[in-house]
Amino acid sequence: MRKVLAGLTTPAFGHSSSRGGDARPNTFSFPRDLSCQRPPPNLPMVMDDTEETPEVPESAPKEKRRRRVTAETMATKQRDISVSEFFAKNRHLLGFDNPRKALLTAVKEAVDNSLDACEEGGIVPELWVHLETTAPNRYKVGVQDNGPGIVKKQIPLIFGKLLYGSKFHRLRMSRGQQGIGISAAGMYGMLTTGKPVKIVSMTSPRKPSHYFEISIDTKRNMPEIINGRGEGEEIPAGEKGHQAVADRGIEWVTHYPTPSDAKPEHHLQHLKSGTRVTIELEGRYQRGRGSVDEYLEQTAIANPHVTIHYIDPEGNAKTYLRSTRELPAEPQEIKPHPYGIELGQLVTMLKDSDSGSMSQFLTSSFSRVSSFVAQKICETAKISTRAHPKRIGRQEADALYQAIQVTKIPPPSTDCISPIGEALILKGLHQQVPGEFFAAATRPPSVYRGNPFVIEVGLAYGGASPTSKVSAEALTELLSESDARSLRQFLLNTFDGIGSAGADKILKEARMGPRQTAAKLGKEDIAKLHAAMKNVNLSEGQSVQVLRYANRVPLQFQPAACAITQSVISNNWRAYGLSQSRGQLPSGPITLMVHMASVWVPFTSESKEAIASYPEILKELRLGLQAVGRNLSTFLNQRKKVQQEGERREIFLRYLGEVAGAVASIKGYNDQSKKELYDQLVDVAKRRTAVADVQLDDRGKKVQTAGDDFGENVLIVNQDIVPQDDEPEMQDGQEN
Ligand SMILES: Nc1ncnc2c1ncn2[C@@H]1O[C@H](COP(=O)(O)OP(=O)(O)O)[C@@H](O)[C@H]1O
Ligand SMILES: [Mg+2]
Repeated sequence: MRKVLAGLTTPAFGHSSSRGGDARPNTFSFPRDLSCQRPPPNLPMVMDDTEETPEVPESAPKEKRRRRVTAETMATKQRDISVSEFFAKNRHLLGFDNPRKALLTAVKEAVDNSLDACEEGGIVPELWVHLETTAPNRYKVGVQDNGPGIVKKQIPLIFGKLLYGSKFHRLRMSRGQQGIGISAAGMYGMLTTGKPVKIVSMTSPRKPSHYFEISIDTKRNMPEIINGRGEGEEIPAGEKGHQAVADRGIEWVTHYPTPSDAKPEHHLQHLKSGTRVTIELEGRYQRGRGSVDEYLEQTAIANPHVTIHYIDPEGNAKTYLRSTRELPAEPQEIKPHPYGIELGQLVTMLKDSDSGSMSQFLTSSFSRVSSFVAQKICETAKISTRAHPKRIGRQEADALYQAIQVTKIPPPSTDCISPIGEALILKGLHQQVPGEFFAAATRPPSVYRGNPFVIEVGLAYGGASPTSKVSAEALTELLSESDARSLRQFLLNTFDGIGSAGADKILKEARMGPRQTAAKLGKEDIAKLHAAMKNVNLSEGQSVQVLRYANRVPLQFQPAACAITQSVISNNWRAYGLSQSRGQLPSGPITLMVHMASVWVPFTSESKEAIASYPEILKELRLGLQAVGRNLSTFLNQRKKVQQEGERREIFLRYLGEVAGAVASIKGYNDQSKKELYDQLVDVAKRRTAVADVQLDDRGKKVQTAGDDFGENVLIVNQDIVPQDDEPEMQDGQEN
C-alpha cells in the first residue's frame, strides 16, 4: 500500500510529468481551476504554504489556515467500494436515470432474462408482463416466464448480488451479458420503495416451487433473504400449490392457453416450469416513444416466436401472439478469435494456460487456429512452438501479439450467432406493423475486431401513420399523461416518425396553435385534434421510422449516436424513389427494422443504447439497407406503372364509346356491328394497358399479387383484403 502511495505522489512533487500537474487540483482539492497558476513544466512543484495562500478568501482572517490532511489521515479513509454501492450512486449508468426510464429498464431486464432463459432451455417462450400502480408514482412490475426455472440455491445470488450471472464468461450471442441487469433493477426498487424483490421459481411440475423475498445488502453486495426465516418458502407441487399460492396472495400464473388454439375458448395447459420476478419501484408510466408498450411491441417484431401477455397500469390486457413456434437456432459458444484479443488479455491467458507447448496453447485457446497457423504465428514471433506458455516473457508476448496481427487467420465461425432470418423478419413485421409491402435481407456473417456479427434489415412500406391509429380515448389519456410543454412537442414526442412538418400539418388542420399546452386541452379541442390526426395524410412528410435492435433487444434511446441511424441517414434513398434531405432520415410511410446480432455488440456506453460505428459494421449496414431499398424501388416503380397504365386505360375507355359511335354512323353500321367494333376496340385498349391488368384487382385500384420480379424475400399485402384497422394479432382479454 505504502509503495503505491509513494508511486502516486512522486510525479506531483517531482518533475515535469503533465499528468502530475493535472493531478494536483484533484489531489489537493483546490476549488478552482489552477491551470494558469501551474508552474512551468520544468520547475519542481513544491507544495508549500505560499501556493495555498491565494485559496484563502481575502475577507477571511489570516490565521484561519486550511487544515492540512496528511497521508496518514487520508489512509484511514481508504475503503473498498462495493459494486452495489457504486451502481446505487451511478444508477444512470444502468438506465435508471429518470422514473420513466427506470420503469422501462426494470421490465426490459426481466423480459430479456426470461427470453434468454427460455431459448437456452429450448422452450417456446410465453411471457406475462404485469404493471400495477400501488401509489402515486409507484409501480409493481411482475414478469413471469415458462422458462426452465432457477434452482433454489442460485435464486438469492441472481437477484441479490450485482455482477453475478452465467453469460459474462462465454462468447455466445445472448441478450444479457454483464450479470448486472435484474439485480440492479431489484436494488433500484429497494432503494426507492424499501420493498424487497419477490421471486417464484419452479423447475418441474412434480417438485415444489420456491418463493423468495430478497433485498440487497449494498455494503457487502450480498443478498438478504427476508421470508421463511432467511431460508425462503416452499410451495408444494400440484393443486395444493395452486391453493397455497392463492391463499398467500403470491402472484403466479399456473395455467395458460394451449398454443395450438387460436380461439378464445381454448382449454388451458399447466405451467411446467418458470420464473416470476416482482419488483416494486418508483417510476412513471407514460405511453409513446421510449415506453414499456413500445418496447414490448418492438420485442414482438424481432422475436416472432414469443407470446407476451401484457397488462398495463390501467388494467388493459393485450396479447402479442407469436407468429411461429420455431425457436431461433441455438447459438454455439466459441473461443475468442486471435484478432480480437488484446495484449494484456493474451498475457493473462498465457499465465493461466495449462497447455504444455505454445502450439497447443494457440490451437486450444483460440478459434480458427490450426497447428499450421500456430506454427506460422510462432515462426513470425521467433518463439519455439514447443516453448512453455507460462514461461513466455513480456517481450515475447508482445512479439506474439504482433505476429498474430500479421498472420492470415480465417474469420471466426458464425454458428455462435443466430440471426432472425428473412422469413421470420417478414412475419414479425407483418404481424405488428401495418403495411402493403414488406422486404427483408439477412447479410452473410462478417467480423469486426475479431467478433463475428450479422446485420439484418427489414422494411415495411405503407399502412396508416401512427397518428391515425390512435383512438379518441387513448388520445385523451396520452394528453393527460404528457408533460410536453406544447402541443407540437406532444405530437413529436408521442408519435414516432411524424416529423415536425407532420405535426404542423395536424395542428393547422385542427386550427390549433403550436404552443397550446397539451395537458389543458378541453373535450372539444381533443375531438378536433383527433379528427385532424385521422384526416391529415402524413405519408409524404412522414419520416422513416427506424427500429434498432441488438441481439433481438430493441434500442430505444440515443438514436443519433448509433451506427444504425447514421448509416440509414448516409444511405442515398432518393435512388429508390424516396425523398430525403441531406443529413436527414428519408421520408415516406416506412418502418425500417435493423438488427445487429453478435457475440459482443459494441455499445457506446454501459446502458447499452447505441452501437459503435466500426467501419466493418457500417459497411454491412449499408449493404443490408441497399438490398431492401432496391426491393422497395422495384415495388414502387411497378406500382407507378400500374397506376399510369390504369389511368391510360380509363382515358381509352372514356372515348371508345364515342369512337365506335362515330365510326358506326360514317359506315352506317347497325347496333350489332357497332357493339362488335366497340368490343374489339376495348380488347385492343386492354391489351395495350395489360400491365394494369396483371397488377390490378377487379376494381382497378390496388396491387393484388406479386410477380417473381420482386425477389424472394418480399411480401405484398392486398389492402382490400386485410383492412387496416382490423388487427387480428391483438386479442384482448386473454389473461387467465
Ligand atoms: N427468468 C430467468 N430464468 C432463468 N435464469 C435466469 C432468469 N433471470 C436471470 N437468470 C439467470 O441469472 C443470471 C443473472 O441475470 P442478470 O443479472 O440479468 O445478468 P445477465 O442477464 O447479464 O447475465 C443470468 O445470467 C441467468 O443465468
Ligand atoms: Mg440480464
